[in-house]
Amino acid sequence: MPKILIVFYSRTGNTARVALDLASHLDADIEEIIDKKKRTGLFSSITGGRDAMKQKLTDIAPMTKNPTGYDLVIIGSPIWGGNLSPAVRTYLSQCQSLLGKFAFFITSSDTDPASAAQMAAQVAGKDPVAFTGFNKQELAAKLAYEEKIALFADQIKHGI
Ligand SMILES: Cc1cc2nc3c(=O)[nH]c(=O)nc-3n(C[C@H](O)[C@H](O)[C@H](O)COP(=O)(O)O)c2cc1C
Repeated sequence: MPKILIVFYSRTGNTARVALDLASHLDADIEEIIDKKKRTGLFSSITGGRDAMKQKLTDIAPMTKNPTGYDLVIIGSPIWGGNLSPAVRTYLSQCQSLLGKFAFFITSSDTDPASAAQMAAQVAGKDPVAFTGFNKQELAAKLAYEEKIALFADQIKHGI
């Protein structure tokens, strides 16, 4: 059985939900990225979006799980201002040299997952082996959501 780690950042729970559901399908370890910068409240959400658009890095809490111990790392980010969240951008840039195979997912209102995967690839220095995205409608439609989670988990199982 391949060892899989899921690493995610989530401000309001959507990305956490996908990460947890994927973890139970894939029997994966999971770790949340903590952004030390305040991101709650309206003002912080505006500055967060601005930081993301400027592709700024942020200060994240030390991670406990080492990506080198895994066959695959799945990384999940919300989309802010059309960009990766600063916390995930920071994780990717800090772990670049330790990261082997990785897969990627986003949650968003309506962003194209392919363009987000390209951004992740730019920071990681390599393409993800698989990627997907969950937009607002998909997050709200229980059956379609569950099918998409199962499909992505299958793609991961057969791709590694
Ligand atoms: C500051 C901010 C900026 C956002 N910008 C975008 C955007 O450019 N495009 C988009 O599709 N969704 C955007 N969203 C919506 C989030 O990506 C979406 O709600 C996501 O699922 C949130 O994930 P979370 O609950 O894990 O934090 C934005 C949300 C926030 C808070």
